Amino acid sequence: MNALLSLSEALRLTVSSETNRTHKSNFGQFMTPAATAGFMASLLDLDQPNIALLDPGAGLGALTCAVVDRWQQVRAKRSQLTAVAHELDDDLRQHLAATLPE
Ligand SMILES: C[S@@+](CC[C@H](N)C(=O)[O-])C[C@H]1O[C@@H](n2cnc3c(N)ncnc32)[C@H](O)[C@@H]1O
Repeated sequence: MNALLSLSEALRLTVSSETNRTHKSNFGQFMTPAATAGFMASLLDLDQPNIALLDPGAGLGALTCAVVDRWQQVRAKRSQLTAVAHELDDDLRQHLAATLPE
């Protein structure tokens, strides 16, 4: 597993077990496992000069992390990736900010 995705996966396992069911249900917090996020990222053509990624309802950032990790492997020279992640839950947003580099 790649660097960022490993971080979000570790958070998924701990944060999920510490969050009560009602809160998860109210926010629709069912996080994508790393294997699925990695597979989804593998379906994208990331060998592009400019990529803009919007991750609405980012949770712990698995999808963005998977894309950034994969982009780092396959990117063209001077390629740029801009990712914008939105998350409603203050607690998750703090984890997200710590995981995703600015
Ligand atoms: C199904 S989870 C998916 C999380 C992440 N994308 C993943 O695949 O692991 C949806 C996330 O959207 C967040 N969310 C719900 N409503 C939102 C809103 N209006 N704006 C931003 N985030 C929202 C929830 O807190 C939750 O973390």
